[in-house]
Amino acid sequence: MARKQTKANKCNSPSSISHNTSNASTVKSLDEIKSFEVEITELKSSKDILRTPSTQFAALSTITPEKNRKANRRLDIGIDPEGNLATTKETQSLTSFGLERIQCSASVKSIYKIIRKCTGSLGGNGNFGAIYGEATMGCMQRVVNLLKEHCEFDSSCSFIDVGSGLGKPNFHVAQDPGVRISLGVELEKIRHDLALHNLRHVLRYTRSSNSSIKHGNVFFQHGDITEARTFNPFTHVYMFDVGFPPPVLHQIATIFNSSQAPYLISYHSPKLMIEKYRFDVDFIAQFSTALHGSGESHTGYLYRHKGKDLPSFDHSKVDPIFQTGVSLLREESEKLVQYVEQANVALLSQSRVTRSRS
Ligand SMILES: C[S@@+](CC[C@H](N)C(=O)[O-])C[C@H]1O[C@@H](n2cnc3c(N)ncnc32)[C@H](O)[C@@H]1O
Repeated sequence: MARKQTKANKCNSPSSISHNTSNASTVKSLDEIKSFEVEITELKSSKDILRTPSTQFAALSTITPEKNRKANRRLDIGIDPEGNLATTKETQSLTSFGLERIQCSASVKSIYKIIRKCTGSLGGNGNFGAIYGEATMGCMQRVVNLLKEHCEFDSSCSFIDVGSGLGKPNFHVAQDPGVRISLGVELEKIRHDLALHNLRHVLRYTRSSNSSIKHGNVFFQHGDITEARTFNPFTHVYMFDVGFPPPVLHQIATIFNSSQAPYLISYHSPKLMIEKYRFDVDFIAQFSTALHGSGESHTGYLYRHKGKDLPSFDHSKVDPIFQTGVSLLREESEKLVQYVEQANVALLSQSRVTRSRS
């Protein structure tokens, strides 16, 4: 019997990952898959699954040997004859209750706690502004774990979030794996300012306590990513790009293809990314993620930049748009603290409401 699963832990299920042929050993046939039970979020019956717009599920709705072969190439998610969602070998690590909780480090949990206090738990313009979807802490941890497993993600890496919103992915990877540089670029000024507001509180907290929170490796840049020429010096380019318009994605492809960055994380499928937008990448793996804020779930994809190896950090190869941030993070953290405090003073004076005499 399939059990219900809450929205928050949907992505915690190992069932949410699949790999391409290079990781074919982890992809099992549907016959093998059938033997595993999985807990499904909000999907009360197989009909619900088949009604989802996802082509993955649709492709598996009638299983012919040919479709089965195709499915096994890319997918680890299928529907067994009883209508249960069935998954790969990874499911074997499930407990009898079917769920494996994703563990987050104490410092990751502390960071989210600080951010929630500052700007609330939803993405967007804090508690009162427009909300956007963002991965929950558990889902983001799952992305981090996948990056460690498949994309050489460790503390020597440099991470950029394209469209960083209030900055949660940046804060997360700054703690785990504790990347060298975690920079977010955000187009909307109000979101950028709120990300800086979060950063100010994180810096104040870390300076006033003996916590194990890593600091001095996060920065937020206000700007339009299409003005960059490359993503250098970043090794991992992350973008929650579901709502990005096609011209922006075409431009990001040009920027990415001119960069040294070996890894890309996007929420668009290989068909779109490779065939339509012409990113010069190979598909590595995909995962499902539940979102805070919008209540949606999306499939994310890991890509490998063709012919690019993990570069050693090279300060001489920094795109001008990232120069301020990279320089501040390279220098002692005192300068970063000064910058962030001053930016917030400017923000507060801008937003102060004055009464005019009439
Ligand atoms: C869905 S939000 C994701 C926020 C954050 N990455 C997260 O996962 O929590 C996408 C963000 O991309 C920003 N964005 C859209 N186009 C952009 C561009 N050309 N340059 C920089 N940011 C952009 C939007 O303003 C929005 O805040």
